[in-house]
Order: sequence, then structure tokens, then C-alpha cells
Amino acid sequence: MKSDGLTGPERELAEIDTSVPHATRVYDYLLGGKANFSVDRAAAERAYAAWPGGLDGVRADARAHRAVLGRIVRYLARDAGIRQFLDIGTGIPKEDNVHEVAQREAPESRVVYVDRDPIVLAHAHQLLRSAPEGATSYIYGSCASLGRSCALPPGRWTSPGRWRSCYSASCTSSATPTTLARW
Ligand SMILES: C[S@@+](CC[C@H](N)C(=O)[O-])C[C@H]1O[C@@H](n2cnc3c(N)ncnc32)[C@H](O)[C@@H]1O
Repeated sequence: MKSDGLTGPERELAEIDTSVPHATRVYDYLLGGKANFSVDRAAAERAYAAWPGGLDGVRADARAHRAVLGRIVRYLARDAGIRQFLDIGTGIPKEDNVHEVAQREAPESRVVYVDRDPIVLAHAHQLLRSAPEGATSYIYGSCASLGRSCALPPGRWTSPGRWRSCYSASCTSSATPTTLARW
């Protein structure tokens, strides 16, 4: 796992607090994942009781959102010739993570994942199972604190400015356009 360019407290592994609900784990629960705790499940059930369609409706929305993300990546890899992706706010790994979708179309695709959540870091090994022709890497930290120079691990990566790349910040509201513009 990489944490290139991060210093000080950001290099420390934060505690995963299971006594309070956590948005990333609630999202995992909505998608039927296993990286969530009873406090997250109870919060989701309370919060979405009044949602149109209730909890099942929110689950359907979350699945639909993931399907859209998959279709976009598939299009970019297959039809638009994109071979390098920065996935900001990756979330807990699921079926069809960005590199799996992209490498199904183009095995040489390279994906850098970025997420600031320690629970995502705990599961990040699943994101590093790249096709041998391509590469994946994981950066632990906020995209706001990563400079352009440290965004890409050394090796086979090319600067986004010199290579057609795709940035995804799907469902990551704190990754503002201003932050992303620095990459
Ligand atoms: C709801 S998940 C989205 C997962 C996935 N991108 C998707 O669309 O299904 C949002 C993720 O964004 C991460 N996140 C939010 N702000 C971030 C930031 N500034 N830098 C890095 N990660 C961030 C959270 O830790 C969380 O894991």
C-alpha cells in the first residue's frame, strides 16, 4: 500500500470507531457489503425509514449509482481509449471496482485509488489485485492534502498532464472542483 507524499498524522492509521455510525460503512451496508457494524446498520434503518421506498429504495438507488459508475468506466476504457484512472473517494471495495471494470476492457489499464478513510485502507488489498499487464495503487489520505507531484506512485505511471487520464470522484462530496483542479 502506498501513502506517498503524506506526512505527520496523516501517515498514522486512525482508529476505526465502531461505537458511532460511519457514512462509508453505512454505504457498504446499503450495497450489501460485510464491512459494516450493527451501529451502521441501525443508523441506516433509522435514517432511511422515511425515504421514498424506505431502506429498499435507498439500496436500489445505491446499486443503480454503482451500475452507472461501472458503465462510465467501461465506456472510457473500451470506447474512449482511457488507460489511466484516478479514483478519488474509492469507498470500501465492492464488486466491479474501477480497475476490474477497466481491465476487463483493457488489461493494461492503471488505476490509482485515493481514500482518507481507515476502513477503506483496511480493505485496500482487494484493490491491489491488478491484471499483470496493468497496475493499481492505493493512496491513503485526503485528496485535499495530496499535491500533484505526490499523486502518482513512482514507476509506470505518467503525469495526468502528459497522458489522457480520467478522474473519478463519484459520490465524494468533499472532493470539490477546486481540490480536483490541483491534480
Ligand atoms: C460513498 S463513498 C463512494 C464510493 C465510490 N466512489 C462509489 O461511488 O460507489 C465516499 C468515499 O469518499 C471518501 N472521501 C470523502 N472525502 C474524501 C477526500 N477529501 N479525500 C479522499 N477520500 C474522500 C470517503 O472516505 C468514502 O470512502
